[in-house]
Amino acid sequence: MVLQAIKYSRGQLEILDQLKLPHAEEYDHLYSSTDAWHAIKEMRTRGAPAIAIVAALALAVELTNMKLPSVAEEVKVFIIEKLDYLVTSRPTAVNLADAARKLRKTTGEAAEKAGATGDAVREAYVAAAEQMLIDDVSDNENIGRHGADWLVKNTPAAKQGQISMLTHCNTGSLATAGYGTALGVIRSLHAQGNLKHAFCSETRPYNQGSRLTAFELVHDKIPATLVTDSMAAALLRQKGQSENIAGIVVGADRVAANGDTANKIGTYSLAILAKHHGVKFLVAAPRTTIDLDTQSGADIVIEERPGKEVLLVKGPRHDGINLDLAVVETVSVAAHGIGVWNPAFDVTPAELIDGIVTEVGVVEKDSDGVFHLEKVF
Ligand code: MRU
Repeated sequence: MVLQAIKYSRGQLEILDQLKLPHAEEYDHLYSSTDAWHAIKEMRTRGAPAIAIVAALALAVELTNMKLPSVAEEVKVFIIEKLDYLVTSRPTAVNLADAARKLRKTTGEAAEKAGATGDAVREAYVAAAEQMLIDDVSDNENIGRHGADWLVKNTPAAKQGQISMLTHCNTGSLATAGYGTALGVIRSLHAQGNLKHAFCSETRPYNQGSRLTAFELVHDKIPATLVTDSMAAALLRQKGQSENIAGIVVGADRVAANGDTANKIGTYSLAILAKHHGVKFLVAAPRTTIDLDTQSGADIVIEERPGKEVLLVKGPRHDGINLDLAVVETVSVAAHGIGVWNPAFDVTPAELIDGIVTEVGVVEKDSDGVFHLEKVF
């Protein structure tokens, strides 16, 4: 069975509630842009590409099921207001802003056509939102293939045989419309018979690596081991040779024009480790994550999340032997009264990145160490 974070048919949208995974697989219906805003903010749906698609489709559902004004301009204004609102849900990932920009354009063009009606504007919007869902899956499959081929061609480890990879963050089917970005590279390596082992890190917030990435690896029967984020250096030192670790592959929430990459908190430290240990560090992301209007990582707004996400852990009751899935408990894991700083992302400087894997190929730096990301558009 294929993991599906987003279930859509015209007029109907459901998301897999990612706060309940891996212990319960429950879908929530989203009926409107307001429902989507809350689902994104609360991280019931998450991952840069998935956020963009859920937002776009929730508005499509709202438009499909509502009684629309017949005047095209009024429908356009309604859609644009809702898109502006959706973009305020989370700031760091650019995919949502990019999707909103494209959908505003489509809507505007439809409204300007001679004889345009409210229905025609709605139809143009809905068709464009639905296309985003379709495109994301095929883009991810291409990212996976390009990344896997690049690793096989460019890493000394691959000359020894099957390679192992460490991944961080949540980048699989749950974070996208399907297949995944960085996890897509691992899926492709596995499908090609080139993967020895995948290591995934625990990753905050909400331990998305152990709850979501690990869930996907187990689901797909990919040989995999979970480590905490603080074990990565020891992993590379102690198991780098025996496991034939070729590198680290991560996703991205926003890649600036110079290649600086905002991704899940902890990514930056992994890039430093990769450099120190002489293994490759790859960022895997669709072109919708590349933001040529942002010059460098210094211009990226990093979301700070509530401290309670660090102070508290939620899960089913466990008596030391058995899990009771029917009872979900929240426990405190920190000293009462301690302050918390909880940035959800960090920025990895381009100099630490060996390649940016997109659906149209892997971008490497030129001989002066500069990425030319404009080439992929
Ligand atoms: O904060 P999240 O859970 O929405 O972020 C998910 C990630 O792990 C990201 O770093 C990212 O979107 C990777 S690309 C699929």
